[in-house]
Amino acid sequence: MKAIAVHPRVPNSIHLRDIPEPSIDSIPGGRGVLVEVLRVGVDGTDRDILQGLYGAPPPGDDFLVNGHENLGRVLQVGPNVSSRIRPGSLVVATVRRPGKSIYDTIGMQDMTTDAVYYERGINLLHGYLSERYVEAADFVVPLPETVASTGCLLEPFTVAEKGIRQAIEIQRRLRVWRPLRACVLGAGSIGLIATALLRLRGVEVVVYSRRPRPYRNSDLAEELGAVYVSSSDTTLPQAAAAHGPFDLMFEATGYGPMAFEAAASLGTDGVLVLASVTGGDTTTTIPADRINQGFVLGNKVMVGTVNAALADFEQGVSDMIAAEAFFPGWPAKLLTTRVAGLDAFQDLADHLLNDKSAIKVFVEVKPPA
Ligand code: BGC
Ligand code: ZN
Repeated sequence: MKAIAVHPRVPNSIHLRDIPEPSIDSIPGGRGVLVEVLRVGVDGTDRDILQGLYGAPPPGDDFLVNGHENLGRVLQVGPNVSSRIRPGSLVVATVRRPGKSIYDTIGMQDMTTDAVYYERGINLLHGYLSERYVEAADFVVPLPETVASTGCLLEPFTVAEKGIRQAIEIQRRLRVWRPLRACVLGAGSIGLIATALLRLRGVEVVVYSRRPRPYRNSDLAEELGAVYVSSSDTTLPQAAAAHGPFDLMFEATGYGPMAFEAAASLGTDGVLVLASVTGGDTTTTIPADRINQGFVLGNKVMVGTVNAALADFEQGVSDMIAAEAFFPGWPAKLLTTRVAGLDAFQDLADHLLNDKSAIKVFVEVKPPA
């Protein structure tokens, strides 16, 4: 069957290849699920992989099948798969697989302390940009048909879900903490999804990003009832003075120095969530004493988050349904750029590398009937 793959660490090595059909019997204990792939989204991590900056093939292979933001339909299930997942079910498979640390053994592989981690389509495991895949039922999440057209957004939803869940978990230390005002840095897909989740939780949100409004992303933020502020005319301290204090900040710009700019503008007792996987080596000068003192005297927290646990996928399904209910048609607007089939892998690369106006590029592996 067909798959889109790269030779990891070799720039521009994207290609279509023929790979063996996956076998449901490769999963022990009768827990295999065979899935037909419908759609796969791509993101900045895939861009880094395409450019040869990130990613590793499974041991013994010199290629990596790309794609982690998957959506598919079940073709066949093993005898010991729960009835929650049946042939015909719409499903999304998680990305990270357990290693050896204690966290991995209790289903918290997103919190692994191992030096290596296993992520389908990213590191040491093949991804989902193929016609079919097989996975253990434990890593497969069912979705209702109402989100059939947007289900490939579940994985990016989980990035925001986990970040917000971490913030809430940490802030239990404050007994009565309830975020009233948040600032989301970056208006890309993760920033917009984080904004939607915070709006669903009743939080006032400022989306702080580079480009002046109005454009597609600022419109999408405003449709959620968020305030869009551009760094081209307003500094972050000015935004915090006008719209803060920020109880929660969510960094998703992909630009490392923003983490420290955000830290300097976080409110008292606030939490700053860092979600950008910055592959570069940017350096910057920061007002270290001022930030440090603000954190000490203001009891502030800065936390990094990498996705995601099964719980984040489950919560993501609920929130995708809620997002569709509260903001009808909004989630689909993130899916700006459709690539027609695995054969169009070159279009995929072109959009991912050059299309600056795209919010989410996705491959329609199998068009709806
Ligand atoms: C993916 C995550 C992954 C992270 C680090 C992100 O793009 O969405 O699943 O954990 O990259 O590799
Ligand atoms: Zn992703």
